[in-house]
Amino acid sequence: MESLYDKLKEYSQKENYPFHMPGHKRNPESMNMENCGEFIDITEIHGFDNLHHSEGILRAAQERAARLFHVRETFYSINGSTGALLAAVSAAVKPGGRILIARNCHKAVYHAAAIRRLKVSYIYPQVEKTFGINGGISPEDVDKILDQQPEIEAVVITSPTYDGRVSHVKKIAEIVHTHKKVLIVDEAHGAHFSFSDQFPDSAVLSGADLVIQSLHKTLPSFTQTAVLHRNSERVNREKLQKFMEIYQSSSPSYLLMASMDSCICDLMEHGKEKFAAYVRLIQETRKKLSGLKRLHLITKTDVVNKAAVADMDISKFVISVKGVSITGKELSRLLRENYHLEMEMEAENYVLALSSVGDRKEGMDRLIHALLEIDSRLERKEKEYFYEFRRENSLMEIGEAMESPSERIPLLESQGEISGEFVYLYPPGIPLLVPGEKISLQFLRDMRRYKKLGFQLEGLSDFKNETIRVVKEGLET
Ligand SMILES: Cc1ncc(COP(=O)(O)O)c(C=O)c1O
Repeated sequence: MESLYDKLKEYSQKENYPFHMPGHKRNPESMNMENCGEFIDITEIHGFDNLHHSEGILRAAQERAARLFHVRETFYSINGSTGALLAAVSAAVKPGGRILIARNCHKAVYHAAAIRRLKVSYIYPQVEKTFGINGGISPEDVDKILDQQPEIEAVVITSPTYDGRVSHVKKIAEIVHTHKKVLIVDEAHGAHFSFSDQFPDSAVLSGADLVIQSLHKTLPSFTQTAVLHRNSERVNREKLQKFMEIYQSSSPSYLLMASMDSCICDLMEHGKEKFAAYVRLIQETRKKLSGLKRLHLITKTDVVNKAAVADMDISKFVISVKGVSITGKELSRLLRENYHLEMEMEAENYVLALSSVGDRKEGMDRLIHALLEIDSRLERKEKEYFYEFRRENSLMEIGEAMESPSERIPLLESQGEISGEFVYLYPPGIPLLVPGEKISLQFLRDMRRYKKLGFQLEGLSDFKNETIRVVKEGLET
């Protein structure tokens, strides 16, 4: 019988190189912890404090993090950015209150809205039409919506996006504050921003009230580790503390918390040199990949100041397959099978290789070699392609639709029904369909295309993706 541990051990000995999370890149040298084994796994014994009531070593560790990130207060999350987002939304908006959500937010934001029975208004990201990728959130759109809907209590945006696009957060923060509302920024993919001026400004610097960062995504820290930063007095700290307790285990792992603190101590002591070397590695790799002839490494020149994008994270290597004969999925497969390189994400139009300060030159060289070799063998081919972020018609609030009586019907026959379930591609975990939205013909066409291309839909209770739960006693449509 092969256990999970056996399988992980066997995999760790293979030559597969990770261009995915976690940010330690399975490189022991990137972690400031010699002993990652079971011998330091304890519970809240004497002298080791309690995360939910921290007064000793865990308080000191969180205060250290707050100093490093230049915020008023930092809360550890051992339930990832997911737990931190649930807490941030819950603390910022009263039960049943109204929230403005960027429609390209991670599912955790929607789950928070469902749990707290919030009324949801959406703001859509602009789209980079050339590459078929979501851009930023327009500050002018935020202003317009807040003017029209003064009952909104908080705004949540994702910046950077999974693909590294950063919105004009400073302008958005000013607008949100002029309206006397709260700005929550999901910066799950931007925990590394503060450590080099070659990265975009962090939302912390741009004046967001609550900022959520996954340490494990782009810094050397164990999976599930994240931080919630309180960057102003606009959200009550006791409420935040309470919700962080509610959404996390009552036995937070000391291994995870130690990896966070080690990461933070290491950044304090050696962050400057390590990040200078890492940025040089990114720049060299980008330079070499600019030699691609058919594939294309997306650059700042391609995207900044278009589609509401203020800046782009150069640590994300987004390789566009537009104009060549293969899809992102096929490119990802070639990289995995022929070169043993595992990507973070594959989309129809691109693949995403995630780099971090834990990367080694050897890994980057392998990526460059593989992409240049694949590129030299590819045919050019203009493909019919059109991407937009679909605007589905929302007829019921999320929580209401999830709790309503529902029935299971064939997915492809569900046009016109109100969805009782989420549908998303994972990654990136952005819902394509949200409970309460009316299922459109266009949505079903997209689903057919994704299935044909071999993408697995997530969120449906039917893992085979053949049926969907729809609200039984729907509203008049
Ligand atoms: C934009 C964004 N926010 C939040 C999350 C959730 O983060 P975590 O996996 O740390 O819970 C993700 C996960 O991929 C994400 O992409």
